Amino acid sequence: MSHETREHHHEHGCGCGCQGERANPFAELSPILDHYADIPGSLITILQKAQELYGFLSVELMRYIALETHTSIAKVYGVATFYTQFRFKPVGKYLVMLCQGTACHVNGSKLVEEAVMDFLEIKEGETTADGLFTLNNVACLGCCSLSPVMMINDDTYGQLTKDKAIHILAELKEVASNETAGLATIEQEVIT
Ligand code: FES
Repeated sequence: MSHETREHHHEHGCGCGCQGERANPFAELSPILDHYADIPGSLITILQKAQELYGFLSVELMRYIALETHTSIAKVYGVATFYTQFRFKPVGKYLVMLCQGTACHVNGSKLVEEAVMDFLEIKEGETTADGLFTLNNVACLGCCSLSPVMMINDDTYGQLTKDKAIHILAELKEVASNETAGLATIEQEVIT
């Protein structure tokens, strides 16, 4: 299917009131679909790329992928839910991945997890109300010599204690609130 066709599936007179002008919300995925759509066995790759682009797989996004790859939505959903790497809800600005592998477990990862849950006031798999942090337990992160370990987005933090983990999270919280305050100031300057 051509790129142009993907830009918009609604034809004029489709009854949705869009007049054929509404932009495709998944346009960034088009080059990937162009490349992979007709290659058998590439559904997982497409889902991975889609998650990289949009952060998680919404129902609309999976429906779109199904349409473009001529696959049933049931199959796309079935494949996506089979693999733990895929997420179906938006994640926070910071994705906190707490390792619960054997080495980390032996070295106190559960205590760290409890402290982190207390501090963020969420449980495993949840996102804080301010949208800043999502907490996920993961298996071995591959740096057991640093256990217990957590990753936040692309950064790795090792030899964690309860206090160290909280300190790291508190710092990120402060960075985020300074960014928000900075934006508010800029907005204020633009308005005045
Ligand atoms: S068990 Fe945690 S990094 Fe390997």
